[in-house]
Amino acid sequence: MLKTKDYRAVIGGSEYYPLMIGGMGVDVSTSEMVLEAARLGCVAHLSDAMVPAVCDKNFGTKFTKNKTGNHRQCQSDERGQSDEPGRDRIPKFDLHEYRLAQTRYIADTVEKKKGNGGVFVNCMEKLQVGAPREILEVRLNASLDAGVDGVSLSAGLHSHSMQLMADHPRFRDVKIGIVVSSWRALKIFLRSADKTGRLPDYIVVEGPLAGGHLGFGEDWAEHDLKDITADIVNNLEMEGLTIPVIPAGGIFDAEDVLFFLEMGAAAVQVATRFAVTRESGLPDKAKQAFFKAEETDVVVSCVSPTGYPIRLLRGSPCLNSNIAPQCVPLGYMMDAKGHCRYVDAYNAAGVSEEGKPLPVADTICLCHHIGRYDTWTCGANVVRLKHTVPKNEEGVYLLPSTEQVIREYLGERTPHCAGSVREMVGV
Ligand SMILES: Cc1cc2nc3c(=O)[nH]c(=O)nc-3n(C[C@H](O)[C@H](O)[C@H](O)COP(=O)(O)O)c2cc1C
Repeated sequence: MLKTKDYRAVIGGSEYYPLMIGGMGVDVSTSEMVLEAARLGCVAHLSDAMVPAVCDKNFGTKFTKNKTGNHRQCQSDERGQSDEPGRDRIPKFDLHEYRLAQTRYIADTVEKKKGNGGVFVNCMEKLQVGAPREILEVRLNASLDAGVDGVSLSAGLHSHSMQLMADHPRFRDVKIGIVVSSWRALKIFLRSADKTGRLPDYIVVEGPLAGGHLGFGEDWAEHDLKDITADIVNNLEMEGLTIPVIPAGGIFDAEDVLFFLEMGAAAVQVATRFAVTRESGLPDKAKQAFFKAEETDVVVSCVSPTGYPIRLLRGSPCLNSNIAPQCVPLGYMMDAKGHCRYVDAYNAAGVSEEGKPLPVADTICLCHHIGRYDTWTCGANVVRLKHTVPKNEEGVYLLPSTEQVIREYLGERTPHCAGSVREMVGV
């Protein structure tokens, strides 16, 4: 019987094992995880969410401090010259600094790559970053400058993204993919991509069981990954287009992978199982919460200021917080006019009798909380993680390595039931 590792995905002329690790922000799919996947012949994504803040954490740069400093300086300059004291300026990113951060973050991983796999970057359109079009252009082109093998366009329609990269010398050789949840969205993207004389090299079809933000409305539970994949495969065929299709969301083991490969998928994209590996950027507390999760702990919520539903654990520390909006140092969620849903909700929440801010119930400061790993987003199959690894005597789940999980998906090894505890802890 064929195993996953007997298949190959051909994406933009390169051959990989048919397994992609999806981008997990913010720095959950770390450089270490991505490099392991590339070494083993698979594809993995860095997420380009909040890259300046991630650079500060990983490389000791000062992008966030500089942004705050520039903002304060501009405000005080304006106060000196203007008759409008206290006029609020929108805290904007400096495009040059953003480009430096994006290039540094991605080049650092690209330069260390060994093996035939791919280092890709996942670019979320919905992160408005205060100047959606300008910053998106910087994020995309800086990723190409940094030598990334591929760019996956996610969380948005991306109707301008291909044009924004079209003048880059690598535009025709870098692999470009789109993440969609319906043929309708894909059709709109294909129409705009066609104007650049280049179609995507692959299509990730993300279903309703995925982690992160969902490309569905409140009716997410009525959709099914198999049906959406089949619909997209059929429509592409009818249009005479041969573009590799890569389903994502709830694909938990080698058997699931084979199901989709036999159905005509070129590869699959997975994430939740890697969120609890040793190489994942999530803190141990969150990883253990993932392992312990039961069905009742997992919710699909509308708290994200992006406007997309997000699946997360009920116990996520971000929920019902009342942190003051962090738009001056961060501000990744602000639109071009300086609006963010959290800021409005925070201002409307009011204060207690003692003068303390009241909890903000219906939304969260995503910039603050996701950067601090307080937003425990996960796929619906998080509840199955507990069956994949053993626990030690204190009841702590033992973290698998990225390599072990990759080998399970490729059908080369089975979860811990067959492997020993000694193997899990690497002794
Ligand atoms: C912890 C976590 C963070 C994620 N972050 C992002 C992200 O920043 N951008 C994005 O487009 N998708 C994100 N996703 C979605 C994944 O890239 C992937 O497509 C999906 O989770 C696959 O489904 P699975 O988790 O059931 O395997 C995230 C998923 C998880 C579990």
